[in-house]
Amino acid sequence: LKCVKQHLIPFRLSLEKLKVVSTRLRKDMIRGLGKHTHHRAAVKMLPTFVRATPDGTEKGDFLALDLGGTNFRVLHVRVMEEEQKMVKMDSQLCAIPQEIMLGTGEQLFDHIAACLSEFLDSQNLKGQTLPMGFTFSFPCEQKEIDKSILIRWTKGFNCSGVEGEDVVKLLKEAIHRRGDYDISSVAMVNDTVGTMMSCGYRDQTCEIGMIIGTGTNACYMEEMKNVKRVEGEDGQMCINTEWGGFGDDGSLEDILTEFDKVVDRTSINPGVHTFEKMISGMYLGEIVRLVLMKLTEKKLLFKGEVSEALRTKETFETKFISMIEDGLENAKKILTELGLTWDLVDARVVRLVCETISSRSARLCAAALATIVDRIRVNRGLPHLKTTVGVDGTVYKKHPKMQPSMHFLTPDCKIKFLVSEDGSGKGAAMVTAVAQRLALQSRLLEESDGEEDEEEKVRS
Ligand code: BGC
Repeated sequence: LKCVKQHLIPFRLSLEKLKVVSTRLRKDMIRGLGKHTHHRAAVKMLPTFVRATPDGTEKGDFLALDLGGTNFRVLHVRVMEEEQKMVKMDSQLCAIPQEIMLGTGEQLFDHIAACLSEFLDSQNLKGQTLPMGFTFSFPCEQKEIDKSILIRWTKGFNCSGVEGEDVVKLLKEAIHRRGDYDISSVAMVNDTVGTMMSCGYRDQTCEIGMIIGTGTNACYMEEMKNVKRVEGEDGQMCINTEWGGFGDDGSLEDILTEFDKVVDRTSINPGVHTFEKMISGMYLGEIVRLVLMKLTEKKLLFKGEVSEALRTKETFETKFISMIEDGLENAKKILTELGLTWDLVDARVVRLVCETISSRSARLCAAALATIVDRIRVNRGLPHLKTTVGVDGTVYKKHPKMQPSMHFLTPDCKIKFLVSEDGSGKGAAMVTAVAQRLALQSRLLEESDGEEDEEEKVRS
C-alpha cells in the first residue's frame, strides 16, 4: 500500500498549493477582463450581456433550446410569477449521434432545426413566435445577447465550419433551408448562466453559476466598470469565466501529472481546456484507468495482469468512480465486469485511486470557486460576503465532498449551494424573461421621461 500511495502523491494537493492555484486564477481572471490582455488570456472571462438576475416578477411563456451534451432538447417553459416557479410544459429530446458531433456544422444545425420543427408541430406552436433562449454550452464570444461566436468546441464536439461563426446565424440559416417555420430573436446562454438564473428565481442572492458535469465552468455577476470590453460603467454583467481553459498557457504545469498529460494528448482537443481535463466527467474515468494500468504494470495490482477492457481507452466510465467509492461490493462487481482477476487488497487499492482522483477534482473546483467568491467580496468592499451558488452537473451531484473544503479557502465568505433543477433547460427561458423585464422597464422609464419633458414644456 505504501508503494501505491507513492504513485498517488502527485494528485494530492495541499491547502497551500490550492491557495497558490487560486492566486494564479485570480490573476488570470484580471487578464481575461482586460481590454488589451484578453486576446491572450487562458481564462477567457466572456461578457454574456446578461445584466441582471431575476427579481421574481418575471412571467410568460418561452421556448428553450439546449445543446451541450450528447442530446439536444427543446422545451416549452412557463414562468409563473404568483408561485415563483418555472414549469416545463413539454419538451422533446433528440439524440446527437457521434457522426453528427464530429460531422459538419450544416449537418448539426439541420438536425437541430428538424428537432425544433417536430416539437413546434406537436405543440401546435408553428404560427406563434414565442421568445426563445438557446443554452449553448461552449465558449462563445458574445457580441450581443443574440450574437454569439463559437470560439472553440469542447467536450466531445468537433463539427467543421462552426468555430468563428455566429451560432444564431447558423441556426437561422438551417431553419430557412427548411422553410416550414421561422423564429424571431434568440437569447444565447451558456449553461452556467442558465443555472445561475434558474436558481436566482428561487433565491435572489444567487449570483454565481457552476457546472461540474461532462465539462466544467462557472459564471458570476461582475461590476460593469471592470468589464473593460463592453461600454458602460454602471451596474453589473454576468461573466462566463470559461475556467476550463485555466492552465492552457502552461500555468498549471507544476500540478499536472503524467496521467493528465496522456489524457490531454489522446483527447480530440490536445492543448486546450487543461483545467477541465483534471476535473470533469468526460476525463475522470480515463485518468483512473491510466493510473490502474500503471499500478498493474508495476505489479501493485491484479498480480500484474491487465485485462483487454482495462487496456482499452475510455472503458473505465466516470460513473464507476462514485459507485466504487459508495462501497466495496460495487468495486468487486465492476472489476469483474472489466475482466480483471482481483483480490480484496486490489479492490481497496482501486477504491483509494478513485477517492484520490475525485477528491483532487473537488479540491481544484473549490479553489476556483473560492477565487470567484472572494472577487465578488472585494469588488463590493465587504469584510464578509454571504452568497449563493447555483450548481449543476452529474459530477457535482455525485460528489458533494467539495463543500467541506470550501471554508478553509474562503474564511471571509459564507457560501450556500443550491442544486439547480434543469438550469440549462429552464435557465434560458429565465434569461429571456429577465431581458424582457429590463426592456419593459427601460421603455416605461423613457415614456415617463418623455412625459416629464412634456410637462416641463407646458410649464415653461
Ligand atoms: C464549456 C463551457 C461549459 C462547460 C460545462 C465546457 O467544456 O467550454 O462553456 O459551460 O463545459 O458544460
